[in-house]
Amino acid sequence: MLISSRIGLGTWSIGGSMWGGTDQAGAVKTIRAALEAGITLIDTAPAYGFGRAEELVGRALAEHGARERVVIATKAGLAWRAGALYRDASPERIVSGVEDSLRRLGTDYIDIYQLHWPDPRVPLERTAAALRTLYERGIVHAIGLCNASPAQMRAFRTAAPLHIVQAPYNLFERGIERGVLPYVERHGLPVIAYGALCRGLLSGRMRPDTRFTGDDLRQVDPKFQPRRYGQYLRAVAALDRFARERYGKTVLTLALRWLLDAGTSIALWGARKPEQLAAIDDVFGWRLDREARAAIDRLLQDTITDPVGPEFMAPPAGTAAAA
Ligand SMILES: NC(=O)c1ccc[n+]([C@@H]2O[C@H](COP(=O)([O-])OP(=O)(O)OC[C@H]3O[C@@H](n4cnc5c(N)ncnc54)[C@H](OP(=O)(O)O)[C@@H]3O)[C@@H](O)[C@H]2O)c1
Repeated sequence: MLISSRIGLGTWSIGGSMWGGTDQAGAVKTIRAALEAGITLIDTAPAYGFGRAEELVGRALAEHGARERVVIATKAGLAWRAGALYRDASPERIVSGVEDSLRRLGTDYIDIYQLHWPDPRVPLERTAAALRTLYERGIVHAIGLCNASPAQMRAFRTAAPLHIVQAPYNLFERGIERGVLPYVERHGLPVIAYGALCRGLLSGRMRPDTRFTGDDLRQVDPKFQPRRYGQYLRAVAALDRFARERYGKTVLTLALRWLLDAGTSIALWGARKPEQLAAIDDVFGWRLDREARAAIDRLLQDTITDPVGPEFMAPPAGTAAAA
């Protein structure tokens, strides 16, 4: 398998749905800008814009060329009806899903194929066996599991090889430190951290009067609601001061550097405008030592008194909802 860059491009917002719409030309430019900046892993999913994000990745790759030098990570196991997502990790859905993804991406193989969310209605071993068949046929080159507990990873591994794990992780969302990270470290599994910027909160762009429009999920994200939003904005301001005073960096690059020094292999940076990736070089060439990490933890404890996780994103089984 190809070695990926440590920053991967996330394409959920590029898909538009749950992000207030998309600018397709800007999206293709962003994917190309990421590849030109040295990012070699593109994370996408059929669920992002109901196929649109995969199509835009396919279009950008066709323009860029050199498919063999790009790691495409896409997903399986969510379906949609009347514009709403639900879990379906049945073997039938996995088989039809991979054909659709290959067509949209304009490729005949997928580098990393990940189960998007375990489906409580389908034993994980059945889903795993379907993924294993695709792996044995060479259609997918590696198997990944997103949003899984250690017990789910254990069950999955009885029926298929597991090559990589994807989980929510950023300065504000630390749930995987209890359980998932110890498990993957013990088993030597690489981790892709998603939501590196906590849906833009850690970019430094957000202000008290920032508003989101249309179906933008930040209208319902509990971190962006009054009272908590103020706490998180104060934490961002404190992190930004810390990054500038100690390292001459910004909160955005601190958030990415923190992840890369926290035992994760790849951090996914969601972006939909080329200029959002401009600071990529500032993420490299420095490190956060143990003392700096402890100072950051103290700062977070002082500012965020009412923390909340990313659980609101979990889609239900068999009915409509979010991703
Ligand atoms: N496996 C899963 O279940 C799962 C779940 C969630 C995400 N993911 C993956 O992880 C990726 C990253 O997570 P995410 O997209 O949710 O969130 P994220 O990376 O934390 O945030 C992405 C958003 O941050 C803002 N942003 C990025 N760079 C910026 C900059 N330089 N200045 C200002 N704002 C900036 C943009 O918002 P605006 O465009 O609105 O300005 C962008 O859409 C996703 O795209 C997806 O590939 C996977």
